[in-house]
Amino acid sequence: DWTPFAFADETIASLKEQLGNDKVVLALSGGVDSSVAALLLHKAIGNNLYCVFVDNGLLRKNEFESVLESYKTLGLNVKGVDAKDQFYAALKGLTDPEKKRKAIGGKFIDIFDAEAHLIQDVKWLAQGTIYPDVIESVSVNGGPSATIKSHHNVGGLPDFMKLKVVEPLRSLFKDEVRRVGRALGLPENILGRHPFPGPGLGIRILGEVTPEKVAILQEADYIYIENLRKAGLYDKVWQAGTIFLPIQSVGVMGDERTYENVVSLRAVESVDGMTADWCHLPYELLAKISNEIINNVKGINRVVYDISSKPPATIEWE
Ligand code: XMP
Repeated sequence: DWTPFAFADETIASLKEQLGNDKVVLALSGGVDSSVAALLLHKAIGNNLYCVFVDNGLLRKNEFESVLESYKTLGLNVKGVDAKDQFYAALKGLTDPEKKRKAIGGKFIDIFDAEAHLIQDVKWLAQGTIYPDVIESVSVNGGPSATIKSHHNVGGLPDFMKLKVVEPLRSLFKDEVRRVGRALGLPENILGRHPFPGPGLGIRILGEVTPEKVAILQEADYIYIENLRKAGLYDKVWQAGTIFLPIQSVGVMGDERTYENVVSLRAVESVDGMTADWCHLPYELLAKISNEIINNVKGINRVVYDISSKPPATIEWE
């Protein structure tokens, strides 16, 4: 019988045995997987687990601060690293989605590697890889999806890091990871969070990413997500996000003609992200969100709703 408690007990015991007094470094993303992996390791080896949480400047509004606070409350040995400017510099001038992904992934490796080198005698790299990541990376390497998108959760380790890898969640599905997290006391604000791509808002701003666009998108997205929460729909939607489109459109504000940006709202229902249906959100809610965004977020004068399912569309736009 699989239970989250038995899984946690057995995993913590075997991690203790495997790791002994070794030091382990882990990158926290704010997502469920890396957080649950961190909790298991923390229970096994305490402060020999060194967590690094990087602010890549591509997270949702307030997310870095609030999640870092949660991690500290959980007792994790965590270091927050503000690397926003380095990511923005790496993204400057890039418009191709895969080049953007590579720039973000590459910058992340640089920063994480520099942080890992600050820990004396670190022996292990821990990752929150779960079973579907293992499967997907196999199919990405071997199948046609390789040309569609590169997910960089698995692999991508630079040779010079030379760390052994420990992945305590490798055999689990997402719902099992959540159950383990709940059993270990992970707070609901992390447990119930929608999936969020590693490259973050970097792939939700179509075309070139700039700090100004990030700031606009964060505000619009915040209004969207808060309204989903208030309407009691956040937990019913599998994933939601706001996309900053690379076009401007004409509008009117008072007597003035405006020529500003467009955002698209996206909400999907899914089981595992492999296929997805767009959510039939209530028109009244969409109307309220659209009004709030256009009236409150300077730089946006039009909001559209994405009614595409996967396949043939993907969940993200890039
Ligand atoms: P798509 O857009 O391919 O997305 O339908 C499926 C799921 O994967 C997430 N996604 C990513 N996650 N790095 C990630 O860690 C990426 O480059 C990436 N691209 C897409 C997406 O948010 C959705 O949950």
